Amino acid sequence: MGSSLSCCVSDQVEEGMSSSSDSSWRIFTYKELHTATNGFSEEKKLGEGGFGSVYFGKTSDGLQIAVKKLKSMNSKAEMEFAVEVEVLGRVRHKNLLGLRGYCADADQRLIVYDYMPNLSLLSHLHGQYATDVKLDWKRRMKIAIGSAEGLVYLHHEVSPHIIHRDVKASNVLLNSNFEPLVADFGFAKLIPEGVSHMTTRVKGTLGYLAPEYAMWGKVSESCDVYSFGILLLELVTGRKPIERLPGGVRRTITEWAEPLIANGKFKDLVDPKLGGIFDEIQLKRTIHVASLCVQSEPASRPKMKEVAELLKGYEIKGGGIGNAMKMRLKSVKYEENLMALDQTSDEDEGKYDESSAYGVFGAMNLQNMPDPYKRTKGDRRGKRG
Ligand SMILES: Nc1ncnc2c1ncn2[C@@H]1O[C@H](COP(=O)(O)OP(=O)(O)OP(=O)(O)O)[C@@H](O)[C@H]1O
Ligand SMILES: [Mg+2]
Repeated sequence: MGSSLSCCVSDQVEEGMSSSSDSSWRIFTYKELHTATNGFSEEKKLGEGGFGSVYFGKTSDGLQIAVKKLKSMNSKAEMEFAVEVEVLGRVRHKNLLGLRGYCADADQRLIVYDYMPNLSLLSHLHGQYATDVKLDWKRRMKIAIGSAEGLVYLHHEVSPHIIHRDVKASNVLLNSNFEPLVADFGFAKLIPEGVSHMTTRVKGTLGYLAPEYAMWGKVSESCDVYSFGILLLELVTGRKPIERLPGGVRRTITEWAEPLIANGKFKDLVDPKLGGIFDEIQLKRTIHVASLCVQSEPASRPKMKEVAELLKGYEIKGGGIGNAMKMRLKSVKYEENLMALDQTSDEDEGKYDESSAYGVFGAMNLQNMPDPYKRTKGDRRGKRG
């Protein structure tokens, strides 16, 4: 993609916006974005996700942007889309990738973000930057705490609260200082009702999905907490959420980590790429928090607020999770039919297969599946799931 991708941009060049570059956003024309991305050319493509393709671009006034071109089949009516985007556009936090703007011309739906020069956490853990080992222990801890704070803001501070639904390494972007910005929050709102979770592709996602979400479509903040726990394990270990072993068997990161944690072999969990340089107290703390987050029962998981506090080393008042220092991690097993849908493999990494644009739920008949999370009336946990 050439030198255009190498530097960082924080300039603010929009017209008629507030003086804070942070909160400025505007409506772009399709023509403008078409020109900025060189006609959405392949060479400007940063990647492809469940909702469409992302292109690098440069506006006429020099702003480096990332343009997400939504698949037209997911487009909402122009007005409805604009209303949702404007709500998301107002969400501002140092650890959230805010919207720079959008375009809703005719049948085109595009979202514009600031371009993040260090791309995603995924690219550093398993992608094009993996061999560079730019993420030392300190940076990893900064990423853990920063992304937790972004999610705290979504869950606890913004009104109405936003459930991310797609917390994963490719949705944690890194700025020029390797500070994390969680991207793609609230995306479910941009897709027509009832379709959003159907169109979430399994590839690169299944390993992060809370069991109650993966199997029964139950959405709550605690689904994000589960995904965040997986992300923490990934950050510390450098392993993928689901690995394909020789012979084709798939193993989740929790299945791998469970015996090591049970036997107190914390050092064996650490990414070998770190060359043994890490802080042992922070390591134990992070694994402890991850273990709490990935519990199978949604009501047992901590809130994001507690997660952030624990990661920073605070004990939570009133006992509870803060005192539960005895670490155990009970790995969750996805149903066989779900595992079979996962396409994670080393060979197909980065490739996109249109035929896989099916969702976890799109490919299953939910009605026929028993729901163990179903509660009787008056059960407090029933409200969360
Ligand atoms: N603002 C940005 N700056 C730099 N890279 C970006 C930016 N936004 C997205 N990307 C990268 O573009 C690629 C495609 O992103 P996209 O969000 O479409 O897919 P995804 O994150 O893999 O999946 P999902 O659709 O579930 O979010 C990812 O590798 C992502 O990290
Ligand atoms: Mg994304």
